[in-house]
Amino acid sequence: MDRQASGRSPTAAELAYLDGHRVARLATVDGGGAPSLVPICFARIDLWGAPAIVSALDDKPKRVDSRDLARVRNIAASPSVALLVDDYLEEWSELAFVRFRGVARLIEPGERGHTEAVAALREKYAQYAAMPIAERPIVAIGDLRAFAWTGAGQAADVSGRTLPRPGLAALDATIRGRRSVRAFGPRPVPRPLVEAAIAAAGWAPSPHGRQPWRFAVVEAASRRASLAEAMAATWQAQLDLDGQDPATVAHRLRRSRERLTTAPLLVVPCLYLEELDVYPDPARQEAERTMAIQSLGAAVQNLLLNLYASGLDAGWMCAPLFCPEVVRRELGLAADLDPHALIAVGYAAKDPVRRTRLPLDRLIVGWE
Ligand SMILES: Cc1cc2nc3c(=O)[nH]c(=O)nc-3n(C[C@H](O)[C@H](O)[C@H](O)COP(=O)(O)O)c2cc1C
Repeated sequence: MDRQASGRSPTAAELAYLDGHRVARLATVDGGGAPSLVPICFARIDLWGAPAIVSALDDKPKRVDSRDLARVRNIAASPSVALLVDDYLEEWSELAFVRFRGVARLIEPGERGHTEAVAALREKYAQYAAMPIAERPIVAIGDLRAFAWTGAGQAADVSGRTLPRPGLAALDATIRGRRSVRAFGPRPVPRPLVEAAIAAAGWAPSPHGRQPWRFAVVEAASRRASLAEAMAATWQAQLDLDGQDPATVAHRLRRSRERLTTAPLLVVPCLYLEELDVYPDPARQEAERTMAIQSLGAAVQNLLLNLYASGLDAGWMCAPLFCPEVVRRELGLAADLDPHALIAVGYAAKDPVRRTRLPLDRLIVGWE
């Protein structure tokens, strides 16, 4: 590192705040002093005996070859950089940012720190598993100096703020934007987005923190078709039992088959009770199972919101509840997994009709 940035070394809280963020703004200047600002994905590693921020020259669409990027040219001309991580919330006392200054350079494959940087970036962002970042240089910012600010007051203490809160407006837009989609276009679903959504499902609350859920993914067209066929056979028997007229039965079966075969991907959330508490009396055992089902619902909502926020759509189907053994057999699921739903995932073929919601005065039935 050839030039030292001004300021003081970052505190543990400031580094934790940095780690808790997934995007930062990187400022560089060119040889003539003109500034450039870009959002970057980043990770933190120990390099040159101190914390360093690393970022990949990745496959996100660019107008020029990665070595020709303004940030790469600027770092070569002037290695002093600044990086901003921040939170915006409508409650301004919750505002916060930490600005890091440092000295940047490119680390080439094979150079010290490159392997660690690639591993750290891949651990933080599932998307990097499929990108050849190991063959490209990494931007490393060392000699870090920090400055922190919060809306809460002079102390500018970001400890306890290691997990940035998503902006309320963005959260609300995601919650209200999500919709049940029942017709999908053919565009395939990127695997990292589904993995990220299942990871988000795993962050739902659960009884005793036991996480009573597992997820099976069905993507291959042949597997979706055979699952649809197997479930349709059971459903036909059930509808016949109800005495429904054959034309209606045929129509409903055709629609159900269509949904499973045209959705590019299905996620099957399964209840997994093995790690829950065992009670001697049936009442408490039943309550334990109810809690597990409640939390499976919370996990599915996380999954749906994450998919929607990443540009995908989904539709919740309850069919496996009525033929769990058929789904278990078709998907080769272990006996201790109880398939509870089918989540069809893809890109909506058209905007669905939106359901209205109860007004607040009907939602709240008491407030003493
Ligand atoms: C437990 C559960 C089971 C559901 N099963 C089905 C289903 O089998 N088929 C279906 O079309 N929609 C199903 N849905 C979706 C609901 O119909 C949908 O969420 C509701 O109509 C509200 O619409 P929205 O999701 O677009 O807000 C299910 C939803 C839940 C929570």
